[in-house]
Amino acid sequence: MAHGRFITLEGGEGAGKSTQARLLAAALEAAGVPVVLTREPGGAPGAEAIRALLLGGSAALLPGTETLLHFAARHEHVGRTIGPALAAGRWVVCDRFTDSTRAYQGFGLGVAAGTIAALDALVGLVPDLTLVLDVPPRTAARRLAGRGNAADRYERLDAAFHARVRAGFRAIAAEAPARCVLIDAAGPVEAVQAAILAAVRARLPAPGLAPAGAGEKKQGGAGGAPP
Ligand SMILES: Nc1ncnc2c1ncn2[C@@H]1O[C@H](COP(=O)(O)OP(=O)(O)OP(=O)(O)O)[C@@H](O)[C@H]1O
Ligand SMILES: [Mg+2]
Repeated sequence: MAHGRFITLEGGEGAGKSTQARLLAAALEAAGVPVVLTREPGGAPGAEAIRALLLGGSAALLPGTETLLHFAARHEHVGRTIGPALAAGRWVVCDRFTDSTRAYQGFGLGVAAGTIAALDALVGLVPDLTLVLDVPPRTAARRLAGRGNAADRYERLDAAFHARVRAGFRAIAAEAPARCVLIDAAGPVEAVQAAILAAVRARLPAPGLAPAGAGEKKQGGAGGAPP
């Protein structure tokens, strides 16, 4: 059985990752691709327990502790959820992955890139495609105010931190152009979705994934007939 494809969505708070991950998973499913939609931190029972500690916990954590916890959660997630799904031929759409640790704990909190790379070697999984959603801070802030959840550990940090995270994500995308596509995510949901589907089609052709402008409904037969 062919190995599935691993797609990650990255970017700062309010960039639209969760919204677009859901839409991408639905579009792939409609195209007949078996999909698992998952998120980080979390995506496996032990990893969700670590998520509660990381995002909900009020205890102050040193940047290195945070980094270790994110990788501990990721190790469970890859070993128990992502790896088996890919081996079974499913595609995995993941809302945040290792680039979030690079951007938040690395660029944001100053953990050395070499430390993150060493821990990444333990996890040992590189996405086939990473969509880096980029929005200006004011747009992100407006979206988060609209969503109205209680702020988590990272949402409580200041504007300078979030500026470093955004610059970090842009640097990561620029350094790995074969894996990453920087998506302008400031526009309406439908425009961002179209850009994402275009990137997926270009990088990871899937039979039946509708061509741009054909709508995201299930295509009848063997797909992709041009309009
Ligand atoms: N393109 C868009 N235009 C306007 N609003 C959007 C857009 N995309 C998402 N939203 C809204 O903005 C809010 C944040 O979006 P979403 O939760 O998808 O972001 P996120 O990147 O997952 O954020 P977080 O990092 O906090 O999980 C939601 O209320 C969502 O409905
Ligand atoms: Mg989200």
